[in-house]
Amino acid sequence: MDDITVLKLKGISKTFHGVRANSDVDFTLKKGEIHALLGENGAGKSTLMNIISGLLQPDKGEIFIHGKRQKIQNPRRAIQLGIGMIHQHFMIVPGFTSLENIILGSEPIKGVTIDFQQARRQIAILSDDCGLSIDPDAVTEDLPVGIQQRVEIFKALYRNAGILILDEPTAVLIPQETDTLFKILRKLVKKNISIIFITHKLQEVMQIADSISVMQQGVIKGVFSPEETDEQALAELMIGREVLLKNDYLPARPGKIVFEVKKLTVMNSRGYEAVSDVSFRVREREIVGIAGVQGNGQAELSESIAGLRKIKSGEITLSGRRMPALNPRKMIENGLAHIPEDRLKHGLVLPFSIADNQILCTYYRRPYVHFFGRNPKAILKNSRKLINRFHIKARGPEEAVQNLSGGNQQKVIISREFSRDSSFLIANQPTRGLDVGSVEYVHKQLIMLRDKGLGVLLISSELDEILSLSDTILVIYRGRVCSIVRKEDATMESIGRIMVRGFE
Ligand SMILES: Nc1ncnc2c1ncn2[C@@H]1O[C@H](COP(=O)(O)OP(=O)(O)OP(=O)(O)O)[C@@H](O)[C@H]1O
Ligand SMILES: [Mg+2]
Repeated sequence: MDDITVLKLKGISKTFHGVRANSDVDFTLKKGEIHALLGENGAGKSTLMNIISGLLQPDKGEIFIHGKRQKIQNPRRAIQLGIGMIHQHFMIVPGFTSLENIILGSEPIKGVTIDFQQARRQIAILSDDCGLSIDPDAVTEDLPVGIQQRVEIFKALYRNAGILILDEPTAVLIPQETDTLFKILRKLVKKNISIIFITHKLQEVMQIADSISVMQQGVIKGVFSPEETDEQALAELMIGREVLLKNDYLPARPGKIVFEVKKLTVMNSRGYEAVSDVSFRVREREIVGIAGVQGNGQAELSESIAGLRKIKSGEITLSGRRMPALNPRKMIENGLAHIPEDRLKHGLVLPFSIADNQILCTYYRRPYVHFFGRNPKAILKNSRKLINRFHIKARGPEEAVQNLSGGNQQKVIISREFSRDSSFLIANQPTRGLDVGSVEYVHKQLIMLRDKGLGVLLISSELDEILSLSDTILVIYRGRVCSIVRKEDATMESIGRIMVRGFE
């Protein structure tokens, strides 16, 4: 029935300097449905969504909203047409309150001032209507990610969005937050809002989607209902080969201690104690996992032991040497590799090329320098090798990292950190944003590097990932390690319970 189609794309194509990101894409969104968009890293999902939300112009093709052909020249036009996009990297202003963020750019005016009373009333009505509760006066940067995301959704609804686009909304959420998000989405579709939902997590797709479109290399390969497909079939269609959705874990044979922290206490950016008196060890050939609800000190812990954040007290020992605080170079020289949680802030220099990002920690060493200068040949050779090995989708080593898709940016960091000669790796959310094929590859590599001798500290909000890869699991709660569990004794339920209340 055509009357229930809210959005139709016909023959959309988009090329970036010869790279085909979208190729003759047809796509239909129906009223009140959740339509999942799947595809490997670099398939063209974000590009397509940016076209719908007016951030990019297609080279070719037509967009119909409620049956009427539209040109969406800019995001303002998209908002007028009822399209709201929630980007993976939130676009809210950190120091603003939720209320200020929600109304930003669409403030109700009374005379010459902003009518905050009116805004509050409207937000209260929306809250009741959609079962979305927020505290309008909370400062957004102090809120957990799940709530920040809710502010973003609110912002779109406040502008009367009838079409909501969510680009990998669950990548940053813990399972409980994802459940809450799904409840909200179900309420919204009952109100006839239509949703496009991008994710790499196939079980989520099966759980929430009414329709599923799969993209591969810029082309839509098929549209399905969840009843006529399953996770394995979707994975294969996306990646073009069979994918192991579970890794083959083999027990570790830990060796001597490679990394140790003793009585570590670290403050967060607002001056409160975020890590309290934490002690643990990581041995060679061992993966120690840190499980915890996000915001319980993991970020401060990993930053401080990577030398990026001041410590209040405690000792850090790497490869038998006591490490000075705040000295990442020294840590790296003593064998540290680090996949940081925030790839844009700590992992990459976006305007730099892939090749230069891959030598960020080793650029001053041979073979990347010779006779006091850069050795471009060696730099490019290294990069080509890593691009191949990690299947990084790019035109070549000289492509700027800012032009890569989210998942491919993550692969650049992983390729650099996995290929460096190191003895201890901090892997913080290593597979965030990666497609199922790349997750499989990274998990295999982690186990292989472990067996070659690497000690790994794995921090992840994916409890699945922690349970399937870690030999020992530490549960962190309010900045303290409150439980240490061996792999064979760990279950999803027991760890989940400790994560939310600090004891079993
Ligand atoms: N501004 C740009 N300049 C050059 N190339 C770009 C630009 N934006 C995207 N691309 C390229 O277009 C292709 C599709 O990228 P896109 O971000 O749409 O992928 P995606 O499906 O969202 O992937 P991911 O799952 O990793 O987020 C990639 O090869 C990417 O490198
Ligand atoms: Mg993307």
